[in-house]
Amino acid sequence: MVRQRRSQPNSDSNKVDKGTNSSSSNGSIASKTKSSSSFNFLGYWKQLVVIIVLSIAIIFGYMGYLETRLNTPFDDKKVVINSGLDVPELFWGTYRPGTYFGLKTRDPTSLVTGLMWYFPQRLGPGGDGIRHWCEQGDNLEKYGWLQHDGENFGIQEIIDGPFKLTTSFVKSRVNDKGGDWTARVEVDFHDKSVPNKEDVSLIWYMALDDGTKGFIEPTNSATKITGIRGSTSTLGDFTLKFRNSSGILDHESFLSTAAPGLHLLKESVISSLRLAKTNNQAGSAANRKIILAGELPSFTGNDKIDPNFVAIQLTGRIPFVVDVIYQSGTEKQVIQADDAYTKVLNSHKEAFARKFEKLFNLKSKGYDDKSIGFAQAALSNMVGGIGYFYGASKVQSQYVKEPVYYWRAPLFTAVPSRSFFPRGFLWDEGFHGLLISQWNVDMELDIISHWFDLINAEGWIPREQILGVEATAKVPSEFVVQRNTNANPPTFFLTLESILNRYENELNGERFRTLERLYPRLQAWFNWFNTTQKGSLPGSYRWRGRDELTNRELNPKTLTSGLDDYPRASHPTDEERHIDLYCWIAVASKTMARLANILGIDGYKYEQTAAYLLNNELMDSLHWSEYAKVYADYGLHTDSVKLVRPKPQPRSQNQNLEMQRVVTKKPEYRLVDSTFGYVSLFPFLLQILKPDSPKLEKILDNIRNPELLWTPYGLRSLSKTAPLYMKRNTEHDPPYWRGQIWVNINFLAARALHHYSNIQGPYQQLAGKIYKELRENIINNVMQQYFKTGYIWEQYSDKNGKGSGCRPFTGWTALVVSLMGEHY
Ligand SMILES: *[C@@H]1O[C@H](CO)[C@@H](O)[C@H](O)[C@H]1NC(C)=O
Ligand SMILES: *[C@@H]1O[C@H](CO)[C@@H](O)[C@H](O)[C@H]1NC(C)=O
Repeated sequence: MVRQRRSQPNSDSNKVDKGTNSSSSNGSIASKTKSSSSFNFLGYWKQLVVIIVLSIAIIFGYMGYLETRLNTPFDDKKVVINSGLDVPELFWGTYRPGTYFGLKTRDPTSLVTGLMWYFPQRLGPGGDGIRHWCEQGDNLEKYGWLQHDGENFGIQEIIDGPFKLTTSFVKSRVNDKGGDWTARVEVDFHDKSVPNKEDVSLIWYMALDDGTKGFIEPTNSATKITGIRGSTSTLGDFTLKFRNSSGILDHESFLSTAAPGLHLLKESVISSLRLAKTNNQAGSAANRKIILAGELPSFTGNDKIDPNFVAIQLTGRIPFVVDVIYQSGTEKQVIQADDAYTKVLNSHKEAFARKFEKLFNLKSKGYDDKSIGFAQAALSNMVGGIGYFYGASKVQSQYVKEPVYYWRAPLFTAVPSRSFFPRGFLWDEGFHGLLISQWNVDMELDIISHWFDLINAEGWIPREQILGVEATAKVPSEFVVQRNTNANPPTFFLTLESILNRYENELNGERFRTLERLYPRLQAWFNWFNTTQKGSLPGSYRWRGRDELTNRELNPKTLTSGLDDYPRASHPTDEERHIDLYCWIAVASKTMARLANILGIDGYKYEQTAAYLLNNELMDSLHWSEYAKVYADYGLHTDSVKLVRPKPQPRSQNQNLEMQRVVTKKPEYRLVDSTFGYVSLFPFLLQILKPDSPKLEKILDNIRNPELLWTPYGLRSLSKTAPLYMKRNTEHDPPYWRGQIWVNINFLAARALHHYSNIQGPYQQLAGKIYKELRENIINNVMQQYFKTGYIWEQYSDKNGKGSGCRPFTGWTALVVSLMGEHY
């Protein structure tokens, strides 16, 4: 192509050149062939130069192509076609799961609004005690949604020391600007023994995201509480009013300023706190009050910037209730009466309870009200934890020197943990989808659609989505960059399979068209896995991203598998193969074939791959250990590793050297079959194992064995007999997937037991028996821990069932609701 273009101008000049002096150096190569040998010689060199130049151009072009593919969107119709105000009923929501209570819109540049609070008598230095983002360090006894339907309302309980806050919201009129809502914050004593003379300061704010066109300002008035009004290009005019619907309002103050960013709102508040002296009554001691500073010049140093942050502080004597009323349009509407709010809230609560029971049948299964309350809270935190993020990931490939930005895009997604992981995670989201799709399948399709709009031209989706300043502020810098070689289990195929099982006959109209738009992206995704994560033997697969050079880790982590430090082959090599990934690809191809069939597309390729991988003989030849009678990874492996602190060198500066791995026996290529745990179970967990396979019986026996995986609280991740059971990976990394009980895998185990107990086979009864026990163990423990600690946890101890890791973790641990309802 390039050659043609270059030679074209010359072809015209050929005509002119004809018969003229042939010393012209710009004649075409062809026209020179009849000339003297010296010209031939020159021509040869010229040709060579052209070829070299071209090759370099092509190489650079190709490198550039590889470089840009990384952050080039997949070239096809977007899956999300309606967003923002096209979906007015979902426009406003509690889409800031990382805050205790806040609302925003599903809009790239949103008006955000939310709550901070503190107890003036208990305020520590540097603003210690002001609550805003969900922080584990706040040490709240409990917080979380009791009910939240994802669409119309939510009610949350927060226990902070001796106080209880109840925060709720109800959306009212939905209009073409998103409509109105009311939020209520009630503060009361939780611990009645506290001498009840204390104040609370509630700070409600509005802030404009960077790039939002519009303004906000306080509405001062002598007779009413200060409010906020404003206007943005999307929302039009709006007002926010406050009402102290019970309790005595002690004083109020406000702040209006230009904050340096959404991630620094609390800092802006802290630096604007002032002490005000007020004389209560003549002669009485001066009362000290903490107030907001009013109008403050910008924190950015540029006074010309308009305020983007307005906060109203209302301080009142507990018990104290404040309503926050948002109205779209100008001020003429009548504010709903106080008890009307309670009435609307109650009718939503009843509707929620009805829908919940209809779906999960917990009452008819014999659960008491307390257990049902727990289950409703678990579901509500899953659904109420859905956020809306906008921004660009930082990504890296081998072809770019420095990380580059992905394209800016929205993501509508649930999150694993409001405190610790308030952002989207790829493999978590497939598990979340199993529950969300039961509650509201269209909402789940919307979530899946958003995720697949993040697929790039290579067919890759970044694993962790850190979009926007608020999300970024929560992530240590070393985890920000996402690498395009790294996978994460394609759990969305499980979600899709579950949606097809449940809704196969209701997939018409918009749902069908969504799946049609999704399909080419699923193909690209599948293909990315099937090629980039291929193993060295036919039919085998290998997780990329393990560090083969480290001598710090006892067993180099496999973060991409989702199971972080679960032990694999001790020495990562290209010959390695991973049984869990094999099973994920098998499920993926099966689901692709099924989806193609439903959509009326030729899915023969997927049927073939599915048949190939679901063939247990292939799987056994790659992964079954005849010796240990378990499925296992294969690779360069030795069990003889330990962490040792190097002896300090004499006269060395550094006397405190970090522990290093020492290998005491040479590794060899073998199955990693001394390690039994979650990974060994995948052929069973993902139901790839044939129901009449004697290997199923062996797996069932192993599961039920307390010396291996069985505990009264669920299945532990790593057998007690495994060499690395509960071992630290480095001196700084405590065990994570090396014994602790995880609910996502326990859910898959219960689901698989349910499956094998419902199809013909010699182990049907055994599976049924273990199913009943396992299901009860998991439910009882997660529920007990919730009642005891106030939280649903990331993982549970295999020794005593205690919650561990981060909290609240109402990502996949909330799947316990599906277990209770036996919805698989
Ligand atoms: C709001 O607070 C003011 C000032 O203390 C009080 O006079 C008024 O009665 C309160 N309103 C309600 C509804 O409690
Ligand atoms: C997956 O990869 C294998 C080769 O490793 C190939 O034979 C197969 O056709 C691929 N499957 C699909 C559906 O592309």
